[in-house]
Amino acid sequence: MKITNLGTRANASFYVACELYKQMSQQSHSKLGLATGGTMVDMYQFLVDLLHKNQLDVSHIETFNLDEYVGLDAQHDQSYHSYMNQVLFKQYPNFNPSLTHVPNGNADDLNVEAQRYEDLINQQGPVDIQILGIGENGHIGFNEPGTDINSATHVVNLTESTIHANSRYFDNENEVPKQAISMGLSTILKAQRIILLAFGEKKRAAIEQLTQNEVNSEIPASILHAHPNVEIYVDDEAAPKS
Ligand code: GLP
Repeated sequence: MKITNLGTRANASFYVACELYKQMSQQSHSKLGLATGGTMVDMYQFLVDLLHKNQLDVSHIETFNLDEYVGLDAQHDQSYHSYMNQVLFKQYPNFNPSLTHVPNGNADDLNVEAQRYEDLINQQGPVDIQILGIGENGHIGFNEPGTDINSATHVVNLTESTIHANSRYFDNENEVPKQAISMGLSTILKAQRIILLAFGEKKRAAIEQLTQNEVNSEIPASILHAHPNVEIYVDDEAAPKS
């Protein structure tokens, strides 16, 4: 695992957008694991810009999002379906909608949906590049502290800390869903290459935990020590001080 401080959010976002662009331009059938959250917004903007400038054909690129809230309609402005449409798929409509996957958080049977999503990734994968953000409590996807290292895509009960952290995107904390469907830790580790982005002081504690070089189930992102090909890019504020 290599942690690199690229100074600013803009630098790191542009760098990661270039890595995704390169992957897609070198392999037209690439599989990408995509993340949501405030951290990713600038990165997607740089990516959309690169795609437009170069008119890259992405119609065979397949994408798998990490997670989705339970109980939000796909059209809800805070669903991760809407997020992805807003930041990427509508901005560059050459993506084929049948190849852009996000778990269905409104499925009648959530466990069946989680299994379907896991099977899909296993059939179509492995993912070439998995993009990750990180929660203030060290979660990746929505894998909260204590999640089993062997977990596949599953239904998650969100912790109070995550509900509170994510309430900034909703009118009030009561509106934040209490559950999500998330790729599991074992699902994430199947990717060939993993790139994690973290910005701002609020993420520094979680990033510092990663420098301790050991897997600790209380810090789900520490599972990344078990993967051979992980890059972490941070800005000055999220860079470890210790
Ligand atoms: C959210 C998402 C994660 C995301 C993280 C950080 O809850 N489930 O995939 O990486 O928390 O979000 P943000 O970038 O908004 O800080």
